[in-house]
Amino acid sequence: MTQEKLLEVKNLKKHFPVGRKEVVTAVDGVSFDIHKGETFGLVGESGCGKSTTGRTIIRLYDATSGEVKFNGEDVHGKKSKKELLKFNRKMQMIFQDPSSSLNPRMNVMDIIAEGLDVHHLVNNDKERRARVEELLEIVGLNKEHATRFPHEFSGGQRQRIGIARALAVEPEFIIADEPISALDVSIQAQVINLLKQLQRDQGLTYLFIAHDLSMVKYISDRIGVMYFGNLVELADSDELYHNPIHPYTQSLLSAIPLPDPQYERARKRMHYDPTIHDTSGPMEFREVKPGHWVRCTEKELEQYKKQLKN
Ligand SMILES: Nc1ncnc2c1ncn2[C@@H]1O[C@H](COP(=O)(O)OP(=O)(O)O)[C@@H](O)[C@H]1O
Ligand SMILES: [Mg+2]
Repeated sequence: MTQEKLLEVKNLKKHFPVGRKEVVTAVDGVSFDIHKGETFGLVGESGCGKSTTGRTIIRLYDATSGEVKFNGEDVHGKKSKKELLKFNRKMQMIFQDPSSSLNPRMNVMDIIAEGLDVHHLVNNDKERRARVEELLEIVGLNKEHATRFPHEFSGGQRQRIGIARALAVEPEFIIADEPISALDVSIQAQVINLLKQLQRDQGLTYLFIAHDLSMVKYISDRIGVMYFGNLVELADSDELYHNPIHPYTQSLLSAIPLPDPQYERARKRMHYDPTIHDTSGPMEFREVKPGHWVRCTEKELEQYKKQLKN
């Protein structure tokens, strides 16, 4: 992992109009960078805006405001079709529910080859088939699977097909939106291990979205915690686990079950009460110590800093 920035997200907002006057503030000004080769975990409970953040970064949605840069280039400015296609190849997405993200009427060959076709990455049918078979092997399936249809596979296998489809265009950056949430626990670790291995082999950078902190801990270099459209805390994984500062992060951590019965009996589930915050000034993302950011007021920042010293 380097400190070189692959993705820069600045004050990103995405509001959805609903009805005539109402607006859903799905993402309300989030800022973070992702370094080349790292896994950045984005965590928060359902509805807090994680998917919208990912989808806006990758331009499935237009941003309401804010900036996204990829390799120093603005992703959301006016772009020609050709430029958009180029970005589209570098950033791919893996979705939560592999059954609904794979077209049931297409066979595995055509599903995986879609990106090859769109980006003209193969010259003929023979090359196309060879590349798909290679991709199937890379994700732990085999070439006989190419002629089958999504419903013939288990959830874990379907997610592997989704991963192969993303890899087909040789992306630099993959947004994995809860890629294991719909899978059996026994299968989750296999998919995580595959993603980790692919990262090592192909130098990939990940934005890994999850609704709890249990798995993210093992795969993320840094983690951002999201609450109601805002990032409330961001730190190195270890730091976030050992030194959670924002009460919402603390409540998420308290929800992780541990395979230790003694600990389990003593574990206290904390609930986050958003009304406990100081209201004497504006809430901003502030650096409590190098690399560790918390959304708070000036006054809270002083408290948090003191807390750290003890
Ligand atoms: N296309 C949409 N139109 C209107 N509201 C939406 C749309 N997509 C998401 N939302 C709303 O935006 C908020 C954030 O949703 P989402 O990004 O899916 O959260 P998460 O992925 O963290 O569960 C939710 O309140 C959701 O209902
Ligand atoms: Mg989501």
